Amino acid sequence: MAGIRFENVTKRFGDTLAVDNVTFEVVDNEFFCLFGPPLSGKSTILKLILGLEQPDSGEIHIDGHPVRHVEAADRDVAMVFQNLALFPHLTAADNVRFPLVERRIPVDRIEARVTDVAKKMHMTHILHKYPAQLSGGERQRVAIARALVRDPVAYLMDDPISALDARLREQTRVELRRIQREMNHTLVYVTHDQEEAMSISDRMAILENGRVRQIAAPEDLYDAPNSEYVAGMLGAPHINLLDAAHIGPGGIIAADESPPASARRAGLRPESVEVNRDPAGEARIQTVEPMGGTTIVTLLVRDTQVKAMLRGQPNFAVGEPVRLSAMPGRLHFFNDAGSALSGC
Ligand SMILES: Nc1ncnc2c1ncn2[C@@H]1O[C@H](COP(=O)(O)OP(=O)(O)O)[C@@H](O)[C@H]1O
Ligand SMILES: [Mg+2]
Repeated sequence: MAGIRFENVTKRFGDTLAVDNVTFEVVDNEFFCLFGPPLSGKSTILKLILGLEQPDSGEIHIDGHPVRHVEAADRDVAMVFQNLALFPHLTAADNVRFPLVERRIPVDRIEARVTDVAKKMHMTHILHKYPAQLSGGERQRVAIARALVRDPVAYLMDDPISALDARLREQTRVELRRIQREMNHTLVYVTHDQEEAMSISDRMAILENGRVRQIAAPEDLYDAPNSEYVAGMLGAPHINLLDAAHIGPGGIIAADESPPASARRAGLRPESVEVNRDPAGEARIQTVEPMGGTTIVTLLVRDTQVKAMLRGQPNFAVGEPVRLSAMPGRLHFFNDAGSALSGC
């Protein structure tokens, strides 16, 4: 398996800077996620790796070699596109076989490979069916299997499970993770779903307008975002972002630490907000949403809304006065430019 490296890669479409001076390295056998809002350049990055688009500047390396002059057909990267077009007149097995048949691989090797992939994908029982006889989730699995069967140098997946319902998505992402581990393949995976990105990837790149804002393991991005933008991209409910002046003794949120001098804004994740009953408290409970294992409480303090995610099902009443504080060491501070200040 092979690594993929982007060095200062830029790609324009007319006036649109789709990929803006992007540098990153996906290491061998890594599950690497590209995560960002629509139009942030995710699909274009995949097309550049595939060779369907050429960079205007910069260099792309696959398996240590520059691929500027390597045709798409010779790059040997397998892609799962968003719309999973299966051949309707072929069974699931024939759909999965297709890329190998097309490459004139010997029949016994094809069969061994199809059997192996079908077993790993838990889809042996549907191999004889036609696409019209399969559910949406099963069709998606067949399409993924068809990409996996080839044994290329790397796999690319563009939001491959977004069409599935929530439960199937959860199952499929666990399976994808397992399959990637078992097959030991480099995988570049695009998603716009933060939960999916966080649960599935070894490392992820967070994109904004064609630019990479931060690359790290999901838990590091979550705990140590380098900017307000990255902090806001991960976490549900959304991180609370407040004026830094409102943090500290006598502020909207009490805290042990006071903001650094250059701090303009402060971020505090809902699970790091402590809510205490206090008749003299300034905050009021606005809404209470029990989620089962957690409860999301929306609070109002001096016209500022704060969300807290509390464990279990505390019985706060709407309108009740409470006091808010930040769990120690959990505040993030950002300067005027939205960059994280060191030491937090
Ligand atoms: N073939 C194209 N022609 C013109 N503009 C394009 C083309 N492909 C992508 N773009 C533009 O490039 C930007 C990035 O698009 P894309 O890579 O598809 O983003 P994402 O996959 O993150 O939604 C967008 O502004 C999009 O409109
Ligand atoms: Mg896209």
